[in-house]
Amino acid sequence: MQASRTAHIQAASPATLSVRLSRHIALEAAAGGEILVRVEHQAVSLGTFDACVVEHMRALSAGLPVDLLAASRDSVDREVLRLVQRLARSGLVEYSLVRADRGGEVVIEPQVPDYWPQLPDLTDGDTLVLSRFAYMRRRASEMVLESPRSGALFRLGDPAAAAMLASLSEPQPVARLRRQDGFPGTELLALLLDSQILLRIEADGDAGLRATEGDEHLVLWDFHDFLFHTRSTEGRHANPLGGRYPYVGLSNPPPAIRPRWPGRAIDLRRDSDTPGATVRPVTALLRERRSTRSFDDRAPLTRAELARLLDSAARVQATWCSPLDGEHGGPMMSYTARPYPSAGASYELELYLAVRHCDGLAPGYYHYDAGRHALTLLHVRPQDLDALLAAAAFAMGAPGPPQVLITIAARFGRVSWKYSAVAYELILKNVGVLTQTLYLVATEMGLGGCAIGSANIELFARMTGLPHHIEGAVGQFALGRGLDEEEADGPA
Ligand SMILES: Cc1cc2nc3c(=O)[nH]c(=O)nc-3n(C[C@H](O)[C@H](O)[C@H](O)COP(=O)(O)O)c2cc1C
Repeated sequence: MQASRTAHIQAASPATLSVRLSRHIALEAAAGGEILVRVEHQAVSLGTFDACVVEHMRALSAGLPVDLLAASRDSVDREVLRLVQRLARSGLVEYSLVRADRGGEVVIEPQVPDYWPQLPDLTDGDTLVLSRFAYMRRRASEMVLESPRSGALFRLGDPAAAAMLASLSEPQPVARLRRQDGFPGTELLALLLDSQILLRIEADGDAGLRATEGDEHLVLWDFHDFLFHTRSTEGRHANPLGGRYPYVGLSNPPPAIRPRWPGRAIDLRRDSDTPGATVRPVTALLRERRSTRSFDDRAPLTRAELARLLDSAARVQATWCSPLDGEHGGPMMSYTARPYPSAGASYELELYLAVRHCDGLAPGYYHYDAGRHALTLLHVRPQDLDALLAAAAFAMGAPGPPQVLITIAARFGRVSWKYSAVAYELILKNVGVLTQTLYLVATEMGLGGCAIGSANIELFARMTGLPHHIEGAVGQFALGRGLDEEEADGPA
């Protein structure tokens, strides 16, 4: 069946689009016409099929021409198509585009379950341009072309395809593309158009239309935000996702508590024993909480207040260890309990305090050791500390810097050692959780605070000496004793 179909399609078109089983997938026939699909070590039933389909299972590993399969009225082909569609819905097939006169293959990997390749008609007069969301990158030893708009990923085994894409940063008439050296074929253009990696625009190359991509809502998306959204959620990519522990055996699990910074620790345990005001119900705190951007330097917050805030919001309450894989062993994992929730009990967030004006604590840059409930002074350049505090004032539109600026940093590996695809988005969610905790504790203590959405990761790297991919700033919180309302300027 395979050979005759391929011969037919080559006569009609210079390129063959075929469907085949994805890599690492195998089909098995069970009793009674049942077909099983084997993925890794699991076998899942695809249902019962006509006996003739079982005979064609092997052909599916090599590839079947898509157009002939879809158009055929033959009852065996219809049954094979049903099997292919069943596999496609589960993301178990890929598509191969090969031109008879060239070596390079383009492989299309579906990213959404109902992807089915379509080839819209293209004429010489059509003008195409690359979507601003499309990008190419190296994945293992292959070049892949992707877009958060696309329902499929393209593995480009044909360098001419990459060259053609580069030329499509500017609108190009199809007629001109067809004249390019090594033109990879109209079929590829059509598939990329179908996947919204290419856009069809008016011949004059309307710049406004190119920017909006014909959708007024898409213009609101930055490239990286849209990519992050589609790759860190489920539904529009086929990457491994969730708590899969992909680095077990390759590296040790990062610890629950950050290794100590060198230097003398300032013990806060005695300070936080100071009794606080009567605790109000959380519903009252939620109503009372407001962002405070102006602080009263005549009455700075005290070391005891700072200690109590850190104790209530972020201190380690308990530690324990357990093997990753229960009774089967696996690496020993360390965990902590802290006042705020954290995805996977990761507790990857670290607090660094830029202290400008705190009664009982010398100005400087400190790390909060949540396990020991202590502060360790880091040696930083005074101009970096000033720059950090000035940037916080600027971000708040405040008349002056806060008394204390808390930088929330993340030990990225603590989360990504466990989670695939979602590690960074979980970290940002954890920042939100901790931020609200800091707001409520500050409110309860009669202190003022304000979240700051931006963070300078280069300045943090300079001050700590930590590479920005290992531990980096992901949030900030300004803290101090707020000015009375009538003394403070309005919110920025
Ligand atoms: C994630 C986040 C980032 C924020 N970033 C800033 C900021 O950079 N500058 C600022 O002045 N306020 C910032 N805020 C505070 C908001 O402006 C404030 O919460 C909002 O105006 C509501 O006012 P309220 O907090 O007084 O109720 C931020 C708040 C959050 C939750």
